[in-house]
Amino acid sequence: MRPGLQLPPQPRQTQTPWTGHARPGPPRGRQGTWGGPAFPWEDTTLVHATILGTRTLHWPDEAACADSAGRLARQPTLHDAFIALHGPLGAGKTTFVRHLLRALGVAGRIKSPSYAVLEPHQAGELAVSHFDFYRFADPQEWADAGFRDIFAAPGLKLVEWPEKAAGMLPVADLDLHLAPAADESRQVRADANTETGLRLLEAWPG
Ligand SMILES: Nc1ncnc2c1ncn2[C@@H]1O[C@H](COP(=O)(O)OP(=O)(O)OP(=O)(O)O)[C@@H](O)[C@H]1O
Ligand SMILES: [Mg+2]
Repeated sequence: MRPGLQLPPQPRQTQTPWTGHARPGPPRGRQGTWGGPAFPWEDTTLVHATILGTRTLHWPDEAACADSAGRLARQPTLHDAFIALHGPLGAGKTTFVRHLLRALGVAGRIKSPSYAVLEPHQAGELAVSHFDFYRFADPQEWADAGFRDIFAAPGLKLVEWPEKAAGMLPVADLDLHLAPAADESRQVRADANTETGLRLLEAWPG
């Protein structure tokens, strides 16, 4: 195991269930400055996720975010993983995904899925599905849109605002909780909820 990776004491502990109360934020499309607590992930967890391992990362600036994404892209386990990205508007979820996709070899313009909900990408043999569920009014929309098939198929799934599809999504292999500061730095907590997530977390230096 790599230094810095913390394992919870046995028996495994369960996260606080998602309460369904979205934290108010600035209007969509504007860069928000997070005004909540230093560790806002406490109330953005999903139902019944069990943390097998956790690590806290620090990105002083976007270049560090890009480097971290590049190191994640080199992990073979990534090729069939579901990564959920949490954090307020403007936290850097799409930015991290863009850097990850670039590092995986995706060329051309990488659109945010803010409006289309899903932006599919092909990185060589790897199918990548990038979702943003912010606009969902009801988690049932996830099932109605037929996204269950995508999650059942091989490929990398990256999800922003998974809370908006709470109760419908499978447990994420890795939960990344991004907490922006007043400057360009980001504190990131990476929680592994599955064996796949744990393998990723152990191999990813962050
Ligand atoms: N360390 C950093 N890591 C990531 N992004 C950063 C960092 N520092 C500054 N930024 C900037 O913060 C902004 C993050 O915007 P982004 O669209 O990625 O947020 P988001 O979390 O996807 O928001 P939304 O919830 O609206 O989808 C970008 O303009 C990015 O350039
Ligand atoms: Mg986004």
